[in-house]
Amino acid sequence: MTRAGATSATRTGSLPMPDAEPKTLKALNRQISAANPLVPGADRAVLGEGAEGAAIAFVGEQPGDQEDLAGRPFVGPAGKLLDQAMAEAGIDRSSVYVTNAVKHFKFEQRGKRRIHQKPTMGEVKRYRWWLMKELDLVHPKLIVALGGTAAAALTGKAVSVTKARGKASFENRPGYITVHPSYLLRIPDEADKQRAYKDFVADLKKIRALAA
Ligand code: URA
Repeated sequence: MTRAGATSATRTGSLPMPDAEPKTLKALNRQISAANPLVPGADRAVLGEGAEGAAIAFVGEQPGDQEDLAGRPFVGPAGKLLDQAMAEAGIDRSSVYVTNAVKHFKFEQRGKRRIHQKPTMGEVKRYRWWLMKELDLVHPKLIVALGGTAAAALTGKAVSVTKARGKASFENRPGYITVHPSYLLRIPDEADKQRAYKDFVADLKKIRALAA
């Protein structure tokens, strides 16, 4: 492994090292933005959004097409559904921190379309040092894993969301595992989708209470 920062090392896509440890979120974000992507796809890093000290930090998988274009996390269809569910659960998005396990949009170009590719466990692990540092700097009361990739990034191992859904601990940081809003969007049957959405809102209500 080699040192991170705006150096030739990170420009070759190597991993950050604790000896390059940023002391502020701003410094960490500078480091992430200066580094080459650690997945094949978009060049630009989509950084976390929200205040240091936010009570809840939500962690998704990776930015999608719209997030990459906007340079902001969770602004596409999954983000809109997350906003709606948060509002129903009484969580104000502007008061929470939102980020992703993988900071770059991994995609495959098919004609004019950029098709989302799920990051491998190895790729998720390469981003992990940044994610844990980011969460330590934000220092939320509760970290929420949205879906399996985020849960894997936070625990360091593969996780079944169905089995692990609920309260969790991410290396002694209080946490909660729930589904990813994209999963809800993909449910074909409308009644099933509504039920799953209600369960998601119920999770968000528990999350709000745990972080109160
Ligand atoms: N899905 C994610 O996991 N993160 C985003 O920012 C958008 C969609």
